Amino acid sequence: MKKGFLIIGLLCFTAVTHAQEIKLNAPSKKGGKPLMEVVNGRHSERSFVKKEMPAQILSDLLWVANGFNRNDKRTVPTAQDRQEMELYVMLDDGVYFYDAKANVLKPVQKGNFRKALGQENITSNAAVNLIMVGDLSKAASREYAYFAAGCISQNVYLYAESKGLGTVARGSFNRDELTKALKLSEKKEVMLVQPVGWIK
Ligand SMILES: Cc1cc2nc3c(=O)[nH]c(=O)nc-3n(C[C@H](O)[C@H](O)[C@H](O)COP(=O)(O)O)c2cc1C
Repeated sequence: MKKGFLIIGLLCFTAVTHAQEIKLNAPSKKGGKPLMEVVNGRHSERSFVKKEMPAQILSDLLWVANGFNRNDKRTVPTAQDRQEMELYVMLDDGVYFYDAKANVLKPVQKGNFRKALGQENITSNAAVNLIMVGDLSKAASREYAYFAAGCISQNVYLYAESKGLGTVARGSFNRDELTKALKLSEKKEVMLVQPVGWIK
């Protein structure tokens, strides 16, 4: 009898601790506008219409930004293949870590942390706000980590243009508040944030 309770207890505990993990769709890796048209259209958007992002688009966006496109290599380059970049996603209910290998969003902290992003006029109507974090304990150098953040940003710009979404790279955020919201350790640095949303 006691053993039964223990198993039920463990199952409940597992359900509670994993309740908020968001399983992502497999990235589609196809379609979109031709590259030359996408590059021709790339631009920054700062005004969004509040609308949800369909699950497939969210999965594809994250994969484009920092997913794996070969066994253990990513869609963006990093110096010496250190893969120091981490991607976090801020949704209305909290912040999540993009675990690209497992293809899930892992909850980091529940709550509304939008203020930490700064420029709420830009960020609050975006469907998602991406946060690029460099792990300087892995990076060949801080400069190279910033370069990698730029690569992620451009991938996001190009995907957004391809899908009729809007986006803008943003360097003006509250570093201390974001560091706390993401529960970052000392060697991890927020480098860039990027809202992605619907423009009509
Ligand atoms: C590193 C970086 C930081 C930026 N920070 C901000 C920002 O904090 N807020 C903002 O509205 N735009 C920001 N931008 C977007 C630029 O203002 C924008 O790219 C520039 O005006 C050129 O416009 P375009 O992207 O449409 O070509 C940033 C761009 C970069 C590359």
